[in-house]
Amino acid sequence: MQAIKKGYAFDDVLIRPRYSEISPRDTVVATRFSRNIKLNIPIVSANMDTVTEWKMAHFMAQAGGIGIIHRWCSIEEEAEMARKVKRIESAIIDVPYTINANVMTKDASDLMSKRGVSGFPVVDEKKRVIGIITKSDIQFAKSLSVSVKGLMTEKVITAKRGISMEEAKKILIENRIEKLPLMNEDRTLSGLITLKDINRSKNENAAKDIKGRLLVGAAIGSKDEALPRAEALVEAGADVLVIDIAHGHSKAEIETIKLIRKKFPDIEIVGGNVATREGVRDLIRAGADAVKVGIGPGAACTTRTVTGVGVPQLSAIIECSKEAKKYHIPVIADGGIKNSGDVAKAIGAGASTVMIGSLLAGTDESPGEYELEDGKAYKRYRGMASREATEDKMRLDGNDENSYRVPEGKPGKVFYKGAANKVLWEIVGALRQSMGYVGAKTLPNFARKAQFKESSAAGLKESQTRLE
Ligand code: XMP
Repeated sequence: MQAIKKGYAFDDVLIRPRYSEISPRDTVVATRFSRNIKLNIPIVSANMDTVTEWKMAHFMAQAGGIGIIHRWCSIEEEAEMARKVKRIESAIIDVPYTINANVMTKDASDLMSKRGVSGFPVVDEKKRVIGIITKSDIQFAKSLSVSVKGLMTEKVITAKRGISMEEAKKILIENRIEKLPLMNEDRTLSGLITLKDINRSKNENAAKDIKGRLLVGAAIGSKDEALPRAEALVEAGADVLVIDIAHGHSKAEIETIKLIRKKFPDIEIVGGNVATREGVRDLIRAGADAVKVGIGPGAACTTRTVTGVGVPQLSAIIECSKEAKKYHIPVIADGGIKNSGDVAKAIGAGASTVMIGSLLAGTDESPGEYELEDGKAYKRYRGMASREATEDKMRLDGNDENSYRVPEGKPGKVFYKGAANKVLWEIVGALRQSMGYVGAKTLPNFARKAQFKESSAAGLKESQTRLE
């Protein structure tokens, strides 16, 4: 008979306190989500239809994390949600409005009001920038019955595409200008940066892409659904595709990762879910930029009771992070987070980020409204492998990949908690305090220094409050 190794869940352990010179206030909780995506907080909202749609994804990115939009909707709906998040705060306008030099100033002025902008780059018939006209040029004009050519500023200050926001801001301020056209080599327009948009997106903690747009992730399935969904999501500007398969260490997942990697060499891909070192290794070798770890720990999961399969989450994170580290690939600990202490344990065990479902499902930013029952407010929360969710998916797009399976999830409800900001503030604040207890200023250092102590049943009881 094979020797049985012990597996630990979050509640089986506590983190040992260590000598510290670190105040929680001075800690840094920035982290890596995937090979090329950095976040300012290590929290990710789950790709579940009772957790993340555009509103949650917007909130998460503004808070410095990332939200993964679920796939329990049509391809168009999911792409539109991703597009919405990308458009909300954009410091670079990719396709700016332009105007022709022959247009009369009066018409240019009307057009500015109509479009809600304060100026236009002026372009010739080959779309090359030949000037810029702004509201202030028009304001001081003697007559509006002249063409734009007569009023525009011909010596336009421009920059190359790819300029950083800091550099762009410096140019705008030094030259006392409002708009900075970004140019291609042939002097055609490649984008526009405005001071107004830079100032609007001052939220320094927000998680953004190189163009200053909020980050957003989106889930795709495997097989027939994967490619068309991926195509629409990449087109919509999603920064990362998360392959949403219950058993990630499978042929279907590996083929999906390879297919997406081949078609979109630059998109970030998260593979999962797995709970073993072999799973991590195979997904990374197939091309994953991050691996999601968790088989059965989720609040709405029944995988372990239905199938007898799973790995206690703390042990899964330790084993998988160790393997992923060999490839410099981050691990996302997915599921089973019941409180802020579990977040600290997941990160202490080696995860770079933590994916959360049930703790965020009861907030204003999750889909749906709260319902009152016996004077208490609840929001709906359901496992995506529940019978109800599988039937909805089949009705939606005829996808019957799970129809023959015994459900591995349950529908239910969670307490309504109000604004997600409060929940996140508590989680991140508590994580900083954990770092203070261990004497770690950064998350990688926290993972290096965290030592776990196994807790007895009495120890677990002792940890819980005994007050009414
Ligand atoms: P929490 O504990 O944060 O977990 O609510 C969220 C994670 O649970 C997973 N998930 C499922 N697992 N059956 C499962 O076995 C399901 O029906 C199901 N739905 C969600 C998923 O990984 C999610 O991020």
